[in-house]
Amino acid sequence: KKTYKICCLPGDGIGPEIIAEGKKVLAAVGKRYGVDFQCEDALIGGAAIDACGDPLPEETLAAARASDAVLLASVGGPKWDSTDPAAPRPEQGLLRIRKELGLYTNLRPVQIFAALADASTLRPEVIDGVDMMIVRELTGGLYFGKRERFYEEPGAGAAGAPGQRAYDTLEYREYEIERIARQAFEAARKRRGKVSSVDKANVLETSRMWREIVHRIGAAEYPDVELEDVLVDNAAMQLISRPADFDVVVTENMFGDILSDEAAQITGSLGMLASASLGDGVALYEPSHGSAPDIAGQGVANPLAQILSVEMMLRYSFNMGEAADAVRAAVTAVLDEGWRTRDIADASTPADRILGTAAMGDEVAKRI
Ligand code: NAD
Ligand code: IPM
Ligand code: MN
Repeated sequence: KKTYKICCLPGDGIGPEIIAEGKKVLAAVGKRYGVDFQCEDALIGGAAIDACGDPLPEETLAAARASDAVLLASVGGPKWDSTDPAAPRPEQGLLRIRKELGLYTNLRPVQIFAALADASTLRPEVIDGVDMMIVRELTGGLYFGKRERFYEEPGAGAAGAPGQRAYDTLEYREYEIERIARQAFEAARKRRGKVSSVDKANVLETSRMWREIVHRIGAAEYPDVELEDVLVDNAAMQLISRPADFDVVVTENMFGDILSDEAAQITGSLGMLASASLGDGVALYEPSHGSAPDIAGQGVANPLAQILSVEMMLRYSFNMGEAADAVRAAVTAVLDEGWRTRDIADASTPADRILGTAAMGDEVAKRI
């Protein structure tokens, strides 16, 4: 029997609630397809800070490296939102594991489930046919640049008094842009053959370099793929005015973070947006949303982004396309039958069709 080791990172907030549903679905897949998924939990984020003062303990990183795939839920929360720059932050654990595992490609598929057409805040005719892949660069840019904060900087306060000064830097190297561009072009070849590269080349030097490199790679290696440039502010607008026109969207780390939350809302809820973080070694699968502190502990979070991240794991790490399709079909069937979590319910949803987190996971698992 084939055995895979999955390193599970529940993290904080709704994390433990939704990852339980991801594991439930994995177990159902294992049973049906004769694969043994061995899940082992490790600490990350605020939970790890509380246990040992470090948002990414050495043992967690070692367990992740020794696994066949990592399943992450979410990290962060008000408990650890300190203004002291020296205090460890849960988010640092996530950034470090992405960096340490070399996960430079983050794929965020934005797809509409027909049954949820009315859950979007956009009109059904606007979202009709939406099927895009956001390819977010994940280990460079502002998130990993040099940064500093000064508290008694001469002249930084009012009327020339000492005050605070801080900076973050946005830096990219040529090879980082080349490799993410290739990922985007490769994805486009398997889809509708179009890449929209999003930048701010009218202002930023990194963006002008980004644009030049993406075009060089495109012309030399992917002449069959259509390439357009879109300035990020315009992209934010077009994502909600003509979302169905986008196929692959490739962009730098922070633009991708912001645009993917916006794109998630096209599908009805952030609770629907899965993601895969890929590099050259072990990959990590994570919902695009956060730890949702406002609903944590209530058992009402939508586990589907986590479950659809399991679908991506089956597809990308284990080459189990049929099993991945089965997960997607199960989610589609559950939604078609009218089952909803609160975030994707609307005024017309009967109260007895609104499920909690675990009941939603049960509905999906029993259809595998
Ligand atoms: P969030 O994504 O946690 O929540 C935004 C809104 O979406 C909230 O109203 C929340 O209730 C809702 N939501 C999110 N996921 C949901 C789900 N599965 N089901 C139903 N509703 C859902 O973003 P935030 O509130 O800005 O951030 C909260 C914390 O999460 C912060 O500490 C942030 O740093 C962290 N965060 C972590 C990750 C991650 O671990 N990958 C991602 C984003 C934010
Ligand atoms: C995401 C999150 C993270 C990011 C945070 C928690 C560091 O918002 O995965 O989208 O910005 O990458
Ligand atoms: Mn985000």
